[in-house]
Amino acid sequence: MGTAPGPSPTRSGGKRCQWSVWAVPVVALLLQLCAAFNLDTQERVVFTGPRGSYFGYSVEFFTNSSSISILIGAPKANTSQPDITEGGAVYLCPWSQANCSIINFDKQGDRYFYINDVNTQVEFKSHQWFGATVRSHGNSILACAPRYYWRTEHDTPFSDVTGTCYLSVDSLKTFVEFAPCRTGELTVMTDGKVVLGGPGSFYWQGELTGMWNGGDFYLPIDFSFNRMGSYFGYAVAATDINNDGLDDLVVGAPMFMRRGSNGRLEELGKVYVYLQRGPLLLEPSRSHLLGQQAFGRFGTSLAPLGDLNQDGFNDMAIGCPYGGDDQHGLVLIYNGHDGGLMDTPTQTLSGQWASSSFPDSFGFALRGNKDLDQNGYPDLIVGAFGADKAVVYRARPIVSASASLTVQPTMFNQEEKTCELFTGNETIAVSCISFCLLANGKHLPSHLGKVQLDSVKQNQKESIRRTLFLDSQQPSLLKTLSLANGQRSCHDAKIYLRAEEEFRDKLSPIYISLNFSLDPHASVDQHGLRPVLNYQTEQRIEQKAQIQLDCGEDNICVPDLKLAVYGDRTEVYLGDENSLSLTFNARNEGEGGAYEAELYVVLPPEADYSGIARNVSLTQLTCSYEAENQTRYLVCDLGNPMKSATSLWAGLRFTVPRLKYTYKTVEFELQIRSKNANNSESEVVLYELQVAAMADVILQGVSLPDKVIFPPPNWSVSQSLREEQDIGPELQQVYELVNNGPSVVSQSTLEVRCPLRAYGHPLLYPVEVLTEGPLSCSSKHTFNALKLKVRTHTHTHTHTHTHTHSLVHRIQRRELYRDLLADQGNLTCSAVECWQLQCNVGLLERGASVILSVRSRVWAETFIERAYKQYVMECSVQYRVNRMPYSIPPKLKPSGSKKVPSSEIVFFLVSYKCNELVNFSVFTCECQ
Ligand SMILES: *[C@@H]1O[C@H](CO)[C@@H](O)[C@H](O)[C@H]1NC(C)=O
Ligand SMILES: *[C@@H]1O[C@H](CO)[C@@H](O)[C@H](O)[C@H]1NC(C)=O
Ligand SMILES: *[C@@H]1O[C@H](CO)[C@@H](O)[C@H](O)[C@H]1NC(C)=O
Ligand SMILES: *[C@@H]1O[C@H](CO)[C@@H](O)[C@H](O)[C@H]1NC(C)=O
Ligand SMILES: *[C@@H]1O[C@H](CO)[C@@H](O)[C@H](O)[C@H]1NC(C)=O
Ligand SMILES: *[C@@H]1O[C@H](CO)[C@@H](O)[C@H](O)[C@H]1NC(C)=O
Repeated sequence: MGTAPGPSPTRSGGKRCQWSVWAVPVVALLLQLCAAFNLDTQERVVFTGPRGSYFGYSVEFFTNSSSISILIGAPKANTSQPDITEGGAVYLCPWSQANCSIINFDKQGDRYFYINDVNTQVEFKSHQWFGATVRSHGNSILACAPRYYWRTEHDTPFSDVTGTCYLSVDSLKTFVEFAPCRTGELTVMTDGKVVLGGPGSFYWQGELTGMWNGGDFYLPIDFSFNRMGSYFGYAVAATDINNDGLDDLVVGAPMFMRRGSNGRLEELGKVYVYLQRGPLLLEPSRSHLLGQQAFGRFGTSLAPLGDLNQDGFNDMAIGCPYGGDDQHGLVLIYNGHDGGLMDTPTQTLSGQWASSSFPDSFGFALRGNKDLDQNGYPDLIVGAFGADKAVVYRARPIVSASASLTVQPTMFNQEEKTCELFTGNETIAVSCISFCLLANGKHLPSHLGKVQLDSVKQNQKESIRRTLFLDSQQPSLLKTLSLANGQRSCHDAKIYLRAEEEFRDKLSPIYISLNFSLDPHASVDQHGLRPVLNYQTEQRIEQKAQIQLDCGEDNICVPDLKLAVYGDRTEVYLGDENSLSLTFNARNEGEGGAYEAELYVVLPPEADYSGIARNVSLTQLTCSYEAENQTRYLVCDLGNPMKSATSLWAGLRFTVPRLKYTYKTVEFELQIRSKNANNSESEVVLYELQVAAMADVILQGVSLPDKVIFPPPNWSVSQSLREEQDIGPELQQVYELVNNGPSVVSQSTLEVRCPLRAYGHPLLYPVEVLTEGPLSCSSKHTFNALKLKVRTHTHTHTHTHTHTHSLVHRIQRRELYRDLLADQGNLTCSAVECWQLQCNVGLLERGASVILSVRSRVWAETFIERAYKQYVMECSVQYRVNRMPYSIPPKLKPSGSKKVPSSEIVFFLVSYKCNELVNFSVFTCECQ
């Protein structure tokens, strides 16, 4: 391959050398090319040399017609040469066997000449660094020892390091020493060819890389400026990166410094790319590559790789021997394109040895663009002299594959059943669809593909796959295809849409996707490698299908949803269950159906759902009650679709039991929602209820007995009043104050007034007050003022003591008003003197009550004197609710009064008529 070694070099003044060209010809590269992501790191082969020998300082391929090997320089290796320490060696490592042997370029020790009869050492091969560079071309190998020196008469050791090289041109059969020369930068060949090299680069790196045919050489770089300090040109490579047929130039500057954001200089290293636009006309590429890690020495080595990814552009490996974790070293693979090299690497190789005190220098030497295993893809050798290792990375074959997926028809029509599916003893009609998988490409593997349907739904929880494969009735199909290279394979399958009842979502597209990949379990190829799919391959293809909707040509439904809500109350009461019915009217006034239309009701925290309202005029809905986070809501199905021009009435029942005193309103939020893409929701309707305190307080009163008949039976006038019954017949008024709710009453008053005397005549003798419940009473009048013996009673009622007030004057003054009383028939407090009782009523829950009873004696003496006259004696009672225990003020504080005919004092029976009063259910009895 390429040109034969040029003529022997001759010294050409100063420190310049002429060298034959060992350049890689830029002619079309063999076979298919490869991709940079495909260097196989699993199957890499590691060669290890003697410890400390710097094995891997240089690396090279060596091919002849029958075999291919690797050459590895170890410039500090000990050899069998007599009396020479660490002279350096080049190892030959046959690819097929992972063992290496030293190539005997030179078996001799140092030469001695007799100078002035003194046997003088004129050659110094110890520490000469033989193998620091090694290059091969065809069956020729050139290896050099840059620190070799030849002593002249006046020389002192190492004062004139000339270096030397050895050459074998016939497959390692004969070896010749090749005259040394000094370091050079640019070597002009006698045949007009130019060899470009960096300062000292041949000896140190052996980069001898470009060949330029004829003409003047123009490089748009000023070598004099400070790039020299960045070791610009430390590595140089020439290869056609932009595929224009002209070699381009890549130059490493591993110690390039950049001023970082903090103003400090960072040594990152840089690789410059110059595109050859015309013969020897170099133009800087748009972007140069900058190292990412300080002191990583990015650009120390460069290796053209050939076109790795089959894109027509050659690729490049760039060494960064002190980069990576623990400075183990990295090799970065960059792809070429028509503007130069890509900005980011497609693959990164790293040294993987246990850390040692000495850096591995992985990537210090690189060599690529040669197919070691003859699998058609060029391979890469990476040297790591710090670890005395060299690693061979072989390229995996690349599969370029493409697939296509066709869904036909893309519209499922639920009405149009073209296929039938037999399930058990029943045949149901289904919709049908077919799809086709196409695949082609170079180097297709034997296995390909997995086809998956309705893939989007698959990732949504709780959703059902709407389409199934007809054959398997499964939502996905896994198929392994065997394809020969270049073969195109097409497959059909039928899928069907499930029955309408089995899913709700008719709107969203059904995605049908095809994923394919190389079979990970496929066996390795004949070279022990697994193919890799081109990293740019689209491995997933997706098509979508729609379900035919009743929405005209474009299959787009635009509903217009309207909601109106009516309730059977506007107020809710504290303390009450507050049952509530909401009736709503849902309409779709749009052109198209609303799919998955739902009434969405957000319940206020105070409310509970009790059920749907059942009424012949109302639609019976199906509702589900759900809670998410703190929100409880009701979702009622309104149809799928809720067709255009639908108007439905339905009702929902709730209770609102958990009213809080602090909120004045309770709000229900109602909305119709659908899954349509356009105009999918109605306005939100708020139904608001006012929170109110309200108590229905009832006062009831009764007089026992309701008639006192004179003369009282078994009663006789006593001469002295000792016991209460000596006064006259007993009369008891019982009052009950009931809170019928719903709200709580915390404080109220009750006031009772009853006739005491008229015109000096005592009418009633109040004996005692008995209470039940949270009630405390007081009066200005003294009860049982005569301290008569009180009849014992079984009740454990509280005895209200009232303060004393004398009633003793009644007898003296009685005669004076005798006639006046006789004229009176109605003994009411407006006409006669009454006693008063004031009572405070405490907290009354809903349904609670207090009972007050007042026991008196009718002054028999007063009435007996006026026989056959009928009196109606009337007590009046008043209540007033003063407080309710809420911050919301009650709408109304109940109050009321009642006149209770305490008794009718009759001398014969009369009939009664009772009237109920509406307010607060007070009723009074009127006597005729
Ligand atoms: C070479 O041999 C010398 C002397 O035996 C020894 O000191 C040195 O370590 C050896 N070097 C290597 C790289 O083996
Ligand atoms: C390499 O190893 C093989 C067997 O492992 C042996 O036959 C062969 O001679 C060795 N070659 C060298 C150069 O050591
Ligand atoms: C090829 O090189 C190998 C060493 O790698 C050598 O043994 C063999 O003889 C060479 N063959 C030819 C034809 O030069
Ligand atoms: C299958 O046939 C049986 C008996 O003929 C019948 O009772 C049953 O309903 C059928 N099943 C279906 C799904 O139609
Ligand atoms: C529930 O809470 C989560 C996380 O806070 C939120 O993403 C989600 O939208 C909430 N759901 C509702 C119905 O508010
Ligand atoms: C007593 O009151 C009733 C109704 O309140 C009335 O009809 C009647 O005339 C009154 N009688 C007397 C004597 O005032």
